[in-house]
Amino acid sequence: MQQTSGTGRSRSILMLGGTGTIGRATVAALLSRGHKVTCIARPKSGIGRKFTKDKTQELLQGTEVIFGDVKNRDFLAKDVFGDRSFDVIYSCMASRTGEPKDAWAVDYQAHADVLALAKESGVTQMVLLSAICVQKPKLVFQHAKLKFEQELAESGLTYSIVRPTAYFKSLAGQVERVKKGKPFLLFGDGTLAACKPISDPDLGAYLADCLDDVSLQNKILPIGGPGPAITLKNQGEYLFKLLDREPKFKSVPADLLMNISKVMDVIGKVIPPVAEKAELARIGHYYATESMLVWDAEAEEYDADATPETGSETLFDYYKRLVEGKEKAERVDVAMFSD
Ligand SMILES: NC(=O)c1ccc[n+]([C@@H]2O[C@H](COP(=O)([O-])OP(=O)(O)OC[C@H]3O[C@@H](n4cnc5c(N)ncnc54)[C@H](OP(=O)(O)O)[C@@H]3O)[C@@H](O)[C@H]2O)c1
Repeated sequence: MQQTSGTGRSRSILMLGGTGTIGRATVAALLSRGHKVTCIARPKSGIGRKFTKDKTQELLQGTEVIFGDVKNRDFLAKDVFGDRSFDVIYSCMASRTGEPKDAWAVDYQAHADVLALAKESGVTQMVLLSAICVQKPKLVFQHAKLKFEQELAESGLTYSIVRPTAYFKSLAGQVERVKKGKPFLLFGDGTLAACKPISDPDLGAYLADCLDDVSLQNKILPIGGPGPAITLKNQGEYLFKLLDREPKFKSVPADLLMNISKVMDVIGKVIPPVAEKAELARIGHYYATESMLVWDAEAEEYDADATPETGSETLFDYYKRLVEGKEKAERVDVAMFSD
C-alpha cells in the first residue's frame, strides 16, 4: 500500500528528458495528478532530432517548455533557475546512443550541473530514471550513470533512483521482420538472458508515485513489469503463435558483437570516431548476454523472483496490438534488429 508524504498536493516540477519515451509517459502521469511541469527541451528534439519546437510543444502539451542546451551551465543558471522556483526535479534524460563522450556529458555532467543549481535554489527532492543494468557495470554509460546516482544519493535531497528492466520498444524490433516471413533472430539458443518488460505508462505511473510515496524514497528501486521473466526465445515463440505460423529461428553467436567491437577498437586508434562506435557493439553484446533482472552477487546469478514488479501491461499484450495493427512500434535510436 502507498505511504504518502506530500498528501498529493500540487508541486512545481522541472523535468529533464520529457521528449523521450519514458519522459513523455512520466509527464502525462504527473500532469494527470495535477502537478505543474516545466520541461527543458532541445530546439530540435526526438530521434534523429526531427521534432521542431512546435512539435515538441505539442508533445509536451500542458507543460511550460524552456528550449536550450542542458549541457550549458549558464543557460541553466539564467534561463531555467534564474527566475523560477521548483519543488522537485525529475529526470528521464539519457544519452540517446550511449556513446562514451555523450554518456559522460549527458548521463553524468549535465545531471551534476542541474543537481548543484537545484540544491542552491532550494529544491528538496529528485526522481531519477536510471537502468537496472548499472548493477553490473561494464559499459561507459553505466559508469557515468553510477557516478551521478552516487552524487544524488549523497546530495541531501530526498531521492528516488529508479532502475527499470527492459522497455517494450527495445523488445519489438523483430515484429515487422517476422510479419514479413523472415526468421526470428536469436543470440545463441535465445535463453542467454531474460527480463521482466515494463510498459511506458506503467513506468511513468511508478515514477510519478515516487513523488509522494515515502516507501519509494531515499532508495534505489529496481523495477520490472508483471512477470514471469521471459527470454528472447519466449518472445519469438509468442510472436509465431500470434501469427499462427511455424516457428522459424536463426541463431547468431553473441560473441560476434564482441569481436566486431575489438576490430573497431583497433581501427579507432587511427580514426577516433570509430572507437566511440565500438561501444555500441559492446552495448549490444551486454544486452544479448546479461539479464535485466536483479543480480544476486552472492549466488552470482540473476534472480527473477527478487525483481520487483509493477503495473499490469505485458509485452505480449503489446505484441498483440502491434500484430493487429492497433499500435505502431516506437523506433529506437540504436536498433539491434531491423526488418
Ligand atoms: N531501452 C530500455 O529497454 C531501457 C531499459 C531500462 C532502462 N533504460 C534507461 O532508460 C533511459 C532511456 O529512457 P528512454 O528510452 O525513455 O529515453 P529516450 O527515448 O532515448 O529519450 C532520451 C531523452 O533524453 C534527452 N536527451 C538526450 N541527450 C540530450 C542532450 N544532449 N540534451 C538534452 N536532452 C537530451 C532526449 O532529448 P531529445 O528528444 O532532444 O533527444 C530525450 O528526452 C536510459 O537511462 C536507459 O539507460 C532503458
